[in-house]
Amino acid sequence: MQGKLIVFEGVEGSGKSTQLVRLQQWLGQNLLFQKLQVMGIVPALVVTREPGGTTLGQSLRALLLNHQPDVAVGARAELLLYAADRAQHMEEIIRPALQAGSWVLCDRFIDSTVAYQGYGRGLSLSLIEQLNEIATEGLAGDLTFWLQLDAAQGLNRSRTRGELDRMEQASLAFHQQVQQGFETLAEGHPERIVPIHAAQSEEAVAQAIQIVMEQRLQTWYRQYLPVY
Ligand code: TMP
Repeated sequence: MQGKLIVFEGVEGSGKSTQLVRLQQWLGQNLLFQKLQVMGIVPALVVTREPGGTTLGQSLRALLLNHQPDVAVGARAELLLYAADRAQHMEEIIRPALQAGSWVLCDRFIDSTVAYQGYGRGLSLSLIEQLNEIATEGLAGDLTFWLQLDAAQGLNRSRTRGELDRMEQASLAFHQQVQQGFETLAEGHPERIVPIHAAQSEEAVAQAIQIVMEQRLQTWYRQYLPVY
């Protein structure tokens, strides 16, 4: 059986990385998921991110996010670097894991490119779709948790965590357009993208995610549920 790709998306400071780890821990304790692992149906739970899920990706991430005043990164170059990161990530990590039946929890994926490079930078959405298609061979993921938070609130959270990276340093207007991009994506793909209100407490967000995950687990692996 093909594995599952579960993605976390959202603006800066939306809490997706924290929630990804919380879901990983919750899955580790979930009885159905444990059973699937013991039976070898889901051999592994892989946690990864974009950009930076591979060795090549780590170098690309540094180029994309480290603020180096003497290194210019134009919008088109930026788009292609994210696409290169994704192509390598698919080939090296995501596709082999899914083919083995494993689950992949991924911090950002194709929707980030649409939101940031499409809505944020204003690059052609159809060009981005084509690049995403090349990088993923059409794979969009099975479930995407979109942590919905006001862009200004998210940036404030990021600021309190420390120095802002190159993307975070972009204007508030840019990040508001990114947020608009996620909103439009969620409206267009309700079967795949589940909005989660991220302004709530960390615990409340985690519970909202767990409720959705429990339902999906039971739908996807119905035949392995205990029969009473
Ligand atoms: P993060 O992993 O800490 O969220 O940082 C990744 C940054 O890269 C974040 O600002 C979003 C940005 N990004 C894009 O602009 N396009 C993309 O395709 C991806 C995956 C990330």
